[in-house]
Amino acid sequence: MSKKTLLILGASGLTGYKALQIAKKRFEVIGTYNQRAVQSDAGSLIKLDISKEEEVKRAFDEIKPDCVLNTTALHNVDYCETHPEESFNINTKAVGLFARLCNNKGSRLVHISTDFVFGGEKGNYTETDSPNPLSLYAKHKLEGELEARKCSSFSILRPSVVYGWTHLETQGSTSSSGKPMNFALWALSKMNKKEELKIVTDQFTSPTLGDVLAAVSIRLLTFEKNDLYHVAGTTPISRYEFTRKLAAIMGYDPNAIKPIESKSFTQIAKRPMNSSLNCDKVQKALNYKLLNVDESLAVMRSQIEVESPELLGA
Ligand SMILES: NC(=O)c1ccc[n+]([C@@H]2O[C@H](COP(=O)([O-])OP(=O)(O)OC[C@H]3O[C@@H](n4cnc5c(N)ncnc54)[C@H](OP(=O)(O)O)[C@@H]3O)[C@@H](O)[C@H]2O)c1
Repeated sequence: MSKKTLLILGASGLTGYKALQIAKKRFEVIGTYNQRAVQSDAGSLIKLDISKEEEVKRAFDEIKPDCVLNTTALHNVDYCETHPEESFNINTKAVGLFARLCNNKGSRLVHISTDFVFGGEKGNYTETDSPNPLSLYAKHKLEGELEARKCSSFSILRPSVVYGWTHLETQGSTSSSGKPMNFALWALSKMNKKEELKIVTDQFTSPTLGDVLAAVSIRLLTFEKNDLYHVAGTTPISRYEFTRKLAAIMGYDPNAIKPIESKSFTQIAKRPMNSSLNCDKVQKALNYKLLNVDESLAVMRSQIEVESPELLGA
């Protein structure tokens, strides 16, 4: 039987690139990039700016995907706050276009949203809790979920602080997502350069290893149910405690990290104080065990040991 064709939108990103590697055995994979022209032996990569409707339509016409994984986003939260139109175009409008094009061809759409749809008042959010987006980015991602639901076959995943090892983010080129590096890699590179690290103690999330998010996304491509799932690390943790754990496992001194409170600095967009996610639903539905923070960081360390040991401390 011939393989199904999978289109990965955002294959130059952390989650998209990991998904490309995982999917190559089971699918005929075509990935897209926008600003970062990456090389991969896992499948073809084409340039596609998702804000250009005609280009997107042409790509769908040519590729005729059986399924589509959308990992694209404009997710510099402060940038989105001051560039509402760009944020809407990427985080909402483009998702509506993907849903329509998938419907035209009977394709399945797996779409990635965010924990930031929540207001952060309580944490441990389940899929039935009411969203309360605090920023334009969050509002547009929530509206993107509504667009994805218009596809007749869809899954929506909500992760939280997506991180992991990728050589793509150490090459100095910036993604059009607005994110130069994922949080853990950014913190690690600061430790490696012996630069001061001040991290907030009062913002809690469920840091999510990109490899796991990618693996679950691929599973959901063939899980014929339309639903929303929280897919994240299973440890709710403050940014500060997470960075201390990262330091310890990567061979740096956790005590060198300085604790600060959110109120001690100004950010343009408001962040939820506790957007940690309850992931019981997806673990039951897929019979899949998500990783806790120590397990996730151990995976990241093992990849760095092979690919970039100079990043590690003593
Ligand atoms: N990172 C987090 O902390 C976090 C937290 C919660 C939810 N999420 C969600 O998780 C998903 C994956 O995040 P990630 O961290 O893996 O993303 P990422 O590494 O920043 O990658 C994003 C991808 O989107 C592409 N992209 C951005 N604008 C585009 C445009 N105009 N046209 C075409 N492609 C465009 C980028 O292409 P180029 O790089 O080639 O420009 C890149 O491939 C996103 O939906 C995000 O909202 C992320």
